[in-house]
Amino acid sequence: MHQDDILLDVQDLRTYFRTELGPLRAVDGVSFTVRKGETLGLVGESGCGKSVTAKSIMQILPKSQAEIVGGSIIYYPEKGEPIDIAVLDPQGPEMRNIRGNEIAMIFQEPMTSLNPVYTIGQQIMEAVQLHQKVDRKTAREIAIEMLERVGIPAPHERVDQYPHEFSGGMRQRAMIAMALSCNPRLLIADEPTTALDVTVEAQIINLLLDLQETYRTSIMMITHDLDVIGDMADRVIVMYAGWVVESGMAKDIFYTPTHPYTQGLMRSNPRIGETKRLIPIRGSVPSLKSLPKGWCYFAPRCDMVQDICAKEEPPVVEVADGHFVKCWRAC
Ligand SMILES: Nc1ncnc2c1ncn2[C@@H]1O[C@H](COP(=O)(O)OP(=O)(O)O)[C@@H](O)[C@H]1O
Ligand SMILES: [Mg+2]
Repeated sequence: MHQDDILLDVQDLRTYFRTELGPLRAVDGVSFTVRKGETLGLVGESGCGKSVTAKSIMQILPKSQAEIVGGSIIYYPEKGEPIDIAVLDPQGPEMRNIRGNEIAMIFQEPMTSLNPVYTIGQQIMEAVQLHQKVDRKTAREIAIEMLERVGIPAPHERVDQYPHEFSGGMRQRAMIAMALSCNPRLLIADEPTTALDVTVEAQIINLLLDLQETYRTSIMMITHDLDVIGDMADRVIVMYAGWVVESGMAKDIFYTPTHPYTQGLMRSNPRIGETKRLIPIRGSVPSLKSLPKGWCYFAPRCDMVQDICAKEEPPVVEVADGHFVKCWRAC
């Protein structure tokens, strides 16, 4: 892979929460890259550290509770030197510039980024004017154009409506419009379709794919839903209990899943699973407080567990070109 293809390079990222019982290792040594123009899927059950990974990249962690304690998040700007986001002041000018102009994020619940007391138009205009030196009239025109681009009908009228006047799917579109109004090079989408019904979900996924084709935006698609990953991702990262347990091209993950956890995810998926009967993975994601260091965190749920899995942390093995698995079985 050519260095010039990389947009974001996350290495050994550790983000811990402070708790009374000691540090909770929500993200515990995560490494991956995002390449220009690609869709990277981040998948794993709820509680695996997907959102904390995204919030670390955006530096929007709850300040008094969570901290990046190690690793690096190197961002490669269009011009100039690479920047390590992990050491930037979350409130400083450099980070604000990255958050506004380079990397944008959309969430499962659009109301976390939309303010109920302002019209949709006012909010997009504010985002536009924060980053571009344009007058109000131009900002309004841009807002209408953005609403049109994300498929909101009658944007001239919709622009003056409040978030509560939009349906869930329309709100999600408005949030995408807001995120894209500053032309980000990376869009992080954290479960953007989880709250929507299937038809609307498909529309939003198509919208994201269209926008990506037009703008060559890289997308980091976070979801617990393998179907969404299958529809969108070029490459896939599988997370479990704060670790990346498997990563590779989407075809590697879907056709030759190698980590027992990934295999379990596939078997428990209604559309992808080959058997008619779905086989859920037994047990559940461990409480991070109870994880013994030096174990494979998946061992208690794993059908293929060996003695060594409870003695030493598994190594990361490249089982095929660009296909990595963190498991003793892969050695
Ligand atoms: N504010 C918080 N305080 C303490 N622990 C948290 C907080 N937010 C998340 N966590 C913990 O961090 C871990 C990862 O959470 P998260 O990244 O939100 O998971 P995911 O997005 O994969 O569902 C979970 O174990 C969760 O309980
Ligand atoms: Mg989450």
